Amino acid sequence: MSITTEAELIGMKKASEAVAYTLKEMRNFAKAGMTTKELDNYGGQILKDLGAKSAPYETYGFPGWTCISMNNEFCHGIPSDKTILKDGDLINIDVSAELNGFWSDNGGSFVIGQDINQHQKLIEASKQILQKAIYSIKGGVRISDIGFLIENEAKKKGYKVIKNLTGHGTGRSLHEEPHEIANYRDRFNLTRFKKNSVVAIETFISTTSTIAETLQDGWTMVGNKGGFMAQHEHTIVVTDGKPIILTEMNEIWN
Ligand code: CO
Ligand code: CO
Repeated sequence: MSITTEAELIGMKKASEAVAYTLKEMRNFAKAGMTTKELDNYGGQILKDLGAKSAPYETYGFPGWTCISMNNEFCHGIPSDKTILKDGDLINIDVSAELNGFWSDNGGSFVIGQDINQHQKLIEASKQILQKAIYSIKGGVRISDIGFLIENEAKKKGYKVIKNLTGHGTGRSLHEEPHEIANYRDRFNLTRFKKNSVVAIETFISTTSTIAETLQDGWTMVGNKGGFMAQHEHTIVVTDGKPIILTEMNEIWN
């Protein structure tokens, strides 16, 4: 969406605070020994208490309130009472929701307990790249130039990017124009970021794979060549200068 009034900006801020607060609380709550279903129910209750509705549940009939992807799962992982968090697990939580007609999206990868499997380097790379990408966005910048920046930064750090997962416009629905904010230079995409538009910027930084494939369950995505992936996502408003980071309070950069 494009922000045209103060009321729209306030609406987007409130929806974004709801998803950011939920993500932050889920991250603090996540501990070895609990199931991903318990973690999801905890987040689902926070969204409900805030009057927000889970976006994947509302939009796609996703079997959970939030997406929780573990280890070799890249995204859209289904919360399960059979998946128990362990020390050293790589976990990604993605929280998106609707509040009073406004939609916002955010996510982040982190390690449960001690980093015994050495995932932190990948996570730090993803965080740094997201930061660099977001602060390079302003009205008039080509979307493909941000894609190039993300891919180039990933390469410099020894990583790959997933080509078929992208950031996207958001605001009046979960996914709207521009539909593809890729993590590589898509030379066929000539569109530019527009001032006042609301977009979800997300990284998909991987150790081995370049394509995400859907498993038999119809939701969970894994890498075509296996390995691990880290994702960090903020919803922002594009301006003439520094973007407004609507989901800043999720603290994924801390
Ligand atoms: Co998104
Ligand atoms: Co998301």
